[in-house]
Amino acid sequence: MPRIEWVELNEFQHATGILMAAEGADSIPFEIKRVYCLYDLDPTARRGFHAHRELEQVLFCLHGSCRVLLDDGFEKVEALIDRRNRGLMISRMTWREMFDFSDGCVIMVIASMHYDEADYIRDYDEFLQILAD
Ligand code: TYD
Repeated sequence: MPRIEWVELNEFQHATGILMAAEGADSIPFEIKRVYCLYDLDPTARRGFHAHRELEQVLFCLHGSCRVLLDDGFEKVEALIDRRNRGLMISRMTWREMFDFSDGCVIMVIASMHYDEADYIRDYDEFLQILAD
């Protein structure tokens, strides 16, 4: 079964608000090359449907919640992301689908590589084939 690995960031509570920070090769288990966000999401949508050859990511829900299906080609597991300081680690060669976006959900993804379409595997059969090779 794919392991559900959480990356927890410290929240610094202050009378006037909360601060949370992420550091590459420290609280985030790889050097950070890219950050991207998803928002204004259709709650009925399902997204993702791909794996990455090398990319590693940590997915945070900064507001609201969503579910992520992780599939290592053998088994699938579902994770609920509902704490803003607890990110889901998505390792290389893991098929992912994201769904059940709450209203106004804001997702931040921290990634180990720049955007590279060649790193994507968008066909599930090809994903299984690469794992078998
Ligand atoms: P995609 O990864 O297919 O989104 P999802 O898996 O959430 O459905 O990306 C959607 C579009 O955004 C695609 O045209 C590529 C572009 N994109 C970038 O330009 N930079 C990025 O860092 C990412 C993740 C996507």
